[in-house]
Order: sequence, then C-alpha cells, then structure tokens
Amino acid sequence: MIDELTKEIEGVRRSFLNEIEQIQSPEKLAALKERFLSRKKGIVGQQLLKLRDCTTAEKPVAGQLINQLKLFIETELAGTEEKIGARPSTQEQWSDCSLPASDLPIGRFHLIAEIQRQIEELFLNLGYEIAYGPEVELEEYNFTALNIPEFHPARDEQDTFFLDGFDNTVLRTHTSPMQVRYMLAQRPPLKIISPGKAFRKDDPDATHSPCFHQVEGLLVDRGVNFSHLKGTLEVFCRSFFGPDVNLRFRPGYFPFTEPSAEVDISCFMCSGRQPDCKVCKGSGWLEILGSGMVHPQVLRNCGIDPEIHSGFAFGMGIERVAMIKFGVPDLRLLYENDLRLLGQFG
Ligand code: DAH
Repeated sequence: MIDELTKEIEGVRRSFLNEIEQIQSPEKLAALKERFLSRKKGIVGQQLLKLRDCTTAEKPVAGQLINQLKLFIETELAGTEEKIGARPSTQEQWSDCSLPASDLPIGRFHLIAEIQRQIEELFLNLGYEIAYGPEVELEEYNFTALNIPEFHPARDEQDTFFLDGFDNTVLRTHTSPMQVRYMLAQRPPLKIISPGKAFRKDDPDATHSPCFHQVEGLLVDRGVNFSHLKGTLEVFCRSFFGPDVNLRFRPGYFPFTEPSAEVDISCFMCSGRQPDCKVCKGSGWLEILGSGMVHPQVLRNCGIDPEIHSGFAFGMGIERVAMIKFGVPDLRLLYENDLRLLGQFG
C-alpha cells in the first residue's frame, strides 16, 4: 500500500508542478488552489482518505508523506502568488485580534549621543551652561588665541583639514576654540561645557578617526585654583564611572593651560587588582582627559585680566569615554551603524 501511495503522491506532485508553471493569472491560481487543497474535494484531501486503507504500521509514514505534499503545494502556491502579484481575496484577509502584537523595534540613542547627553546632564546639574560651537573654525580661534603659534606642530597639514578657497579657516581640530569664542562674547563668571565634533587628518584605526567627538569644559571666575578643577573632575568621574573611582593627575603639556595635567581614573572594572583585566590591561589606570589652569595669555587674548580672573579647562574624547565605559574594543565599531552594537552596549 505504501509503495502505491508514494507513487501516487509523486504523480500528484508532478502534475501540480506542471500546472502551476503555466499559470499567469490570479484567477487560475485560485482555481488550482481550490482543486488541490479544497477541504472536501481537493486532491490532497482525497489522498488523506486513503489512510483508511493503510495498516496501523503504515499510517504514520503515509500521513507524513501526504503532509509533506500539502506543505510543498502551499509553499509553491504562495511563491507563485507573490510572483504574479496575486493578493488573497478580502475574505481570506482576516486577522486574529486576540493574538499578542508582534514586537516593534524600539529606537534608542547611538552610544556617542547617549554618552554626550549623560555628560551634558551631569554638568547641567553642576550649574554649567552648554555652548555648541561651529565645526568650521577660524585658525585664529582654533590655534593662535589658544597659544598655539604658527610654527607649532599641532597645526601641521598632516593633522589639520584646511578649507580650499577659505584662508584662515579649518575644520576645528578640537572643541577648545569654544573657550575663546565664549570668553570673547561673555564676561566672567563663566561656566560652560561645549560638546561636538572635531576633525583631524588621521587614518582610521582602532583608536583614531578623522571625525570624532569631544567635550570641552571651561570655568572662569575670581580665585579659581587647581583644587576647584580637581574637585569638579572628581565629582564628574565618580558620578559617571562609579563612586569608588580614584583620580590620578599626571603632569602634561597643553599650550593653552598652565599647569596642565592628564587625568587617569582607577580602573572601575578591577581597581588595579587583576593583571589580565581587559579594560585597563593590568595597569590599574585609564587615561580619560586633558586639563589645566587656563593660561594667562589665553585669558589676555580674550580680553580677560589674569590678575583678576583665573580659570580651569578640560577636554575629553566622547568615543574614548564610550569605549571605556561600555568596553567597546574598536573605535570604528561606533561608526558602522550596526544595530547589534546598540543592542549590546546601549
Ligand atoms: N584640546 C585638547 C585635545 O584635543 C584637550 C584638552 C586638553 C582640552 C586640556 C582642554 C585642556 O581644555 O585644558 O587634545
């Protein structure tokens, strides 16, 4: 019996394929469907009736063969339906309102935007204002007023994008020119952060990108000293990375601050206790930002008397903060727009 049925089913399959290949119109397709699959008189239904003649041992095998045939026919019908642009009739287009809704993907901020917003919120809570600046900047503000003279290597063509046909204009190489813009426009006391894009002629690799993001900070008032800078950065780093984080100030050099310091935080992952820590590579410290007391010449360049006012400034890379905080191993991942990255780290 099974052998006979197998042959018959193969025959049905072939004749179905022969017919469906000729079909061009939705009406003919509907008729074919009716002939093979209709409940009462459909050809597949007829095969099912033959189960009655099978032995108990044969029944499951025969049932499976017929089901496979049915599935095959359904799949072919759906494929052709799509190919010839046939739509199911309105009668067939019903929906079951009691089914749970399918998941809609929920949007979220990109990691860089997310970190920027968190930093903004933190400093807003400390009474800072947010000042966004232009990405196309005057050489004067990007370099000269920040005490970076014409022969300084930071201006080198290898670092800076100059703009054809616009003298004295560059894509800003850092967010620090906003210090100059703000000090020229406002009188102390000043308290701002300035987040945004910066550009350098770097080849992309795991830690470099020709376009990246920074946040600049500036505070100018009477009697501001290094301990104010230290306290502010401690509050920021502990709120951002965790209350147990320690800070290390290393002497550094920036032309626009004196003294200058590079700031490391203790590794929030292992606190320096694990030599094989993936985050700090066993050193126990993570370099996080540059900072210092605003150079008196920079204050003077902006019309502020350094005998009366003093200030501190700091600057950090948002990508660097994102990579440290979320353990993103390669900077380029942040620009590839792969939604899985957001799902994993966001
Ligand atoms: N502009 C510096 C850079 O791009 C970062 C920086 C360092 C900003 C020290 C500051 C600062 O305001 O005080 O590397």
